[in-house]
Amino acid sequence: MALLEDELPTSGVVVEIGYGPVTDLPRLLSGLGTAQAVGIDIDQQALRDAPTPGLNRVCADGSRLPFRSRSLSAILMRAVLHHIVDIDTCLADCTASLKAGGRLIIEDGVALEPDDAARMNDELRGRCCFDG
Ligand SMILES: C[S@@+](CC[C@H](N)C(=O)[O-])C[C@H]1O[C@@H](n2cnc3c(N)ncnc32)[C@H](O)[C@@H]1O
Repeated sequence: MALLEDELPTSGVVVEIGYGPVTDLPRLLSGLGTAQAVGIDIDQQALRDAPTPGLNRVCADGSRLPFRSRSLSAILMRAVLHHIVDIDTCLADCTASLKAGGRLIIEDGVALEPDDAARMNDELRGRCCFDG
C-alpha cells in the first residue's frame, strides 16, 4: 500500500469512485495533509454499509461525475473499472474533472469474463499514465 499512498496528493479534493463497503480511502488519507476525501458509489446500499464516518459520500455513476471541471486533485478507482460499461466516457469524465497535474489512479486486475481483460487492456492502452 505504500506505493498508493505515495501517489495520493496531500491537498485538494480526492475522490474514490466505486468505494463500496470496504473503502480504504480514510486510512489512506490519514496523515496526508489537508486533502479532503469524497467517496462515490452508484449503489445506495454500498454507501449506507460503508463504515466510514466523516467521509463525504455521494451516490453517483462514475461515468457522470458530479464535480466541476478541473476541480479534483486525484481520482482513485480500485476494483471498479471492470464494472464500468462505458470506459471511454468514464475516463473522459475523470480527465475533465481533474485539475492540471491531477492524478488518476486505477487499480484493477479483475476480469468477469475472459474477454473483459482484453477489452480493458485495449481501451486503457496509451491512457494509463495520464498525469494532468
Ligand atoms: C468490487 S467493489 C470495490 C470496492 C472498493 N473500491 C475496494 O477496493 O474494495 C466495486 C464497487 O463499485 C461500485 N460501482 C459499480 N459500477 C459503478 C459505477 N458505474 N459508478 C460508481 N460506482 C460503481 C459498486 O457498487 C461497488 O461498490
